[in-house]
Amino acid sequence: MFVVEEEGTLLGFGHVEDEAVLAIFVDPDAAGRGVGSLLLAHAVQEAASDHSRPVHLTATLNAEGFYRGFGFEPVEHKVLVKGGVELPVVVMELPERWHE
Ligand SMILES: CC(C)(COP(=O)(O)OP(=O)(O)OC[C@H]1O[C@@H](n2cnc3c(N)ncnc32)[C@H](O)[C@@H]1OP(=O)(O)O)[C@@H](O)C(=O)NCCC(=O)NCCS
Repeated sequence: MFVVEEEGTLLGFGHVEDEAVLAIFVDPDAAGRGVGSLLLAHAVQEAASDHSRPVHLTATLNAEGFYRGFGFEPVEHKVLVKGGVELPVVVMELPERWHE
C-alpha cells in the first residue's frame, strides 16, 4: 500500500497485490488534481514488475472512465453482493503495450 501526502495531509492511497490493483482512493477534496493518476501510475509500475499476467483490477462503474483514460480495457461486467447489497463492477485489464 502507498499514499500521496501534501504537507502532512493524506490525499489518497493505493493498494497493489501481485498483478492486481486492489484500490485507488482519493479524498474528494483533492479530486481532479492528478492524485489518482499519480497513484495509478505507481500501482501499474508495481503490479507490472514481474509481467506474469496482465495488470488487472475490478472497478466500480463510476471509476471505469478514469481507468479507461489510463489504457485499461473492460473484460467482464459482473455484480458483487456485499452485505446483501448488489454492486455492479467491471473487471479491467491493461494491455501489455501500456506497461512501459
Ligand atoms: C476515481 C478517482 C480515483 C480519480 O482520482 P482523481 O485524483 O480525481 O483523478 P485525476 O485528477 O488524476 O484525473 C485523471 C484523469 O481522469 C479523469 N477522471 C477522474 N475521475 C474520473 C471518473 N470518475 N470518470 C472518468 N474520468 C475521470 C480526469 O478528468 C482526468 O482526465 P484528464 O487527464 O483528461 O484531465 C477518485 O475520484 C476516487 O477516489 N473516487 C472514489 C473512489 C473510487 O471510485 N475508486 C476506484 C474504485 S475501483
